[in-house]
Amino acid sequence: MPTSTSRAPGSLGSNGLPSLDALRFIYVTGKGGVGKSTATAALARAMAARGRRVLVCMTNAKERMSGMLGSPPIGPEIVSAAPNIDAVNMEPRKCLEEYGVMILKVKALYKALFENRYVDSFFRAVPGLYEWSMLGKAWYHTTELLSGKTSDDVDAPYADGWKYETVIVDGPATGHGLDMLRVPRVLLDVAPAGPMRKEAERAWRLFQDPSHAGVVMVTLPEEMPANETLELAEGVREMNLPIPRLVVNGLLPPLFQHEQRGLLLARELPLGLTSAHARASREQIQEDALAKLATLKLPTSYLPFLVNQEPSSPQAILALAHHL
Ligand SMILES: Nc1ncnc2c1ncn2[C@@H]1O[C@H](COP(=O)(O)OP(=O)(O)OP(=O)(O)O)[C@@H](O)[C@H]1O
Ligand SMILES: [Mg+2]
Repeated sequence: MPTSTSRAPGSLGSNGLPSLDALRFIYVTGKGGVGKSTATAALARAMAARGRRVLVCMTNAKERMSGMLGSPPIGPEIVSAAPNIDAVNMEPRKCLEEYGVMILKVKALYKALFENRYVDSFFRAVPGLYEWSMLGKAWYHTTELLSGKTSDDVDAPYADGWKYETVIVDGPATGHGLDMLRVPRVLLDVAPAGPMRKEAERAWRLFQDPSHAGVVMVTLPEEMPANETLELAEGVREMNLPIPRLVVNGLLPPLFQHEQRGLLLARELPLGLTSAHARASREQIQEDALAKLATLKLPTSYLPFLVNQEPSSPQAILALAHHL
């Protein structure tokens, strides 16, 4: 029975944007340092508060998510991080071992075949395996049922119930993020017929399905990040992957109106007013970046720039969750 209060595909959330709640798989990406992990944590909190069981998957990251979620440290084993939120920091060797054991069924056999010293050369020999070990694991968790069985029939889950209704991947920064996403597509071309290729096929089908999956792009309202986001969106769209949401993080509340800003920026200000000049200049940059991002015509959430609280604290993340 559905226990979740989340919304059906296509419906609007309380913020007036198409809801992300029905998505089974969300891949968060963007330029380095723009707030991907912050947005991931806030999105997980928002969905969990609406009753969804969420798994947050970090991609071999420097672990700061536990501080954001207020949880015990998050390592390569899945832990319970907050109500309705489990989390894992995926480590490629460990993922590969799990995968190997799953396919070979016997842990001792895996160990015999993949003694640590062989693993590196194995990673090198199979293109995309490093990325797939993590992305494939994240995808696998979308197929798990509460009963312990698995299913990838996205439309027939509730008789049994998904273990995780939404898996959110906190992806690597832009270039690597796209490389990782592309891997199942590459495996379809290069992997010989077998379980890995079959799974890549199933994962790719899910990733391309706008009713059940999507890429969430995170950016800052600044020139370089906005330019990179336009390129990123082009790359994602070329892969035929849906982008259900753009998250603009670190939005400054404008202190000056457009004309006032023009006045401030048009002249040299006396020393005591240089901070007003700097602020007006930042606001102008923000306005230009937002105009550029608007050309993407994507449903967009805005997260405020936090000044009065530690932005990585659980309280700050809960405050940001209200915007998602
Ligand atoms: N809305 C915000 N207001 C103020 N500071 C923020 C905000 N969002 C994120 N930060 C701060 O910016 C820094 C980068 O955020 P975060 O770690 O989420 O980025 P990231 O994109 O995941 O980085 P990386 O590419 O290194 O994984 C952190 O110190 C975070 O606390
Ligand atoms: Mg991060």
